[in-house]
Amino acid sequence: MTFDWEAKYCERVSHMYGSMTRQLMHLIADPEVISFGGGLPAWELFPVEKVKEVVDHTLDSDGAAILQYGTSEGYGPLRMAVAERYVKRGFDITDENVLITSGSQQGIDLVSKILLDKGNAVLVEDPTFLTALQAFSLFQARYLTVPVDGEGMRVDLLPEILEDNDVKFIYVIPNFQNPSGVTLSLKRRKELLKVAQQYGVPILEDDAYGELRYSGEVLPALKELDEGGQVIYLGSFSKVLSPGLRVSALIAPDGVMEKLVFAKQAADLHTDNLAQRIMYGFLERDLLDPHIQIIIESYRKRRDRMLQAMERHFPSEVTWTKPDGGIFLWVTLPEGMDAMDLFQQAVQAKVAYVPGSCYYADGGGENKMRLNFSACDEQKIELGIQRLAKVIIGNLT
Ligand SMILES: Cc1ncc(COP(=O)(O)O)c(C=O)c1O
Repeated sequence: MTFDWEAKYCERVSHMYGSMTRQLMHLIADPEVISFGGGLPAWELFPVEKVKEVVDHTLDSDGAAILQYGTSEGYGPLRMAVAERYVKRGFDITDENVLITSGSQQGIDLVSKILLDKGNAVLVEDPTFLTALQAFSLFQARYLTVPVDGEGMRVDLLPEILEDNDVKFIYVIPNFQNPSGVTLSLKRRKELLKVAQQYGVPILEDDAYGELRYSGEVLPALKELDEGGQVIYLGSFSKVLSPGLRVSALIAPDGVMEKLVFAKQAADLHTDNLAQRIMYGFLERDLLDPHIQIIIESYRKRRDRMLQAMERHFPSEVTWTKPDGGIFLWVTLPEGMDAMDLFQQAVQAKVAYVPGSCYYADGGGENKMRLNFSACDEQKIELGIQRLAKVIIGNLT
């Protein structure tokens, strides 16, 4: 008889589910499928040789320390270098405000751990990053949703929601949002802070894509405008250096840092030492910014190619966002067309995307799809969009 694990799971587990994106992408084993589905950086742009140099140097000079346990807050010089980087941008912080996490996804998890009790409400954008929903749901959060338009979250709708509901925190992706690609305007950033302050609600600002801007002017992070210490900021090095290293920086006000560090200790003691040293090497040797420039040049071309290809091949009934940065476009199909239904046909036509309904906390978005433009070269982008256009046109009534 096999052991009955089902009978042993805690209540939380009934709120746990796998990432739809990862499941769908798993289905596409065929290398001929052009995938606009995942959120992957371009494979060919990873600076493997430079990483090798940094690793060799670091192991030669400090190998034993790397193999030893490290501090939960993160490698001291890296925290300092990260703080300096953000201070240059206008953040009012020191290294004491920086916690090095295993990816910004861990930041989402740690913040959930210290703020969420069962049944607490989290206010999220509609649509939003589905793996954040996965993390919040594990803490049995419920959701209040605010739609997104061309200027980001509809902040004008917040006062009514906050008046009627006890909201534990607001989760927002102000720059080149995943999945929609839209950016929160400066006016709305200021309004969001004002209303959050008025109702005493913390903000979790997820800036996974902020450094990947291809057009338009740089806008201040909410954290830069946060005078009352109400914003916890998640920076990520995944999209600008490597997601595989799992190194990110969480920036938190003094008051909340200790609890986050305790949560980090309970989760994994500390972030991988070697990965932190690689990140530090890139900052210390001034390798990161030139690398980001290379990525920006390449992704800008890929974004433009995808936009042009859609203009050329998609029928006039289809619309899409034109993001200033990040790695995603958000497509709206004609009303009544379901992107989940189309998915199998698309895979047969050897192109893949993520159906938009995955990104809605309360359902909806059936006629939306998310397209990634960072992981395919321009030729593949053109071909993939042609294939997708045929599928869409074949389903027009
Ligand atoms: C909006 C957003 N936040 C956070 C993450 C997690 O990134 P990481 O944990 O690699 O820093 C992602 C990854 O795709 C994302 O899109």
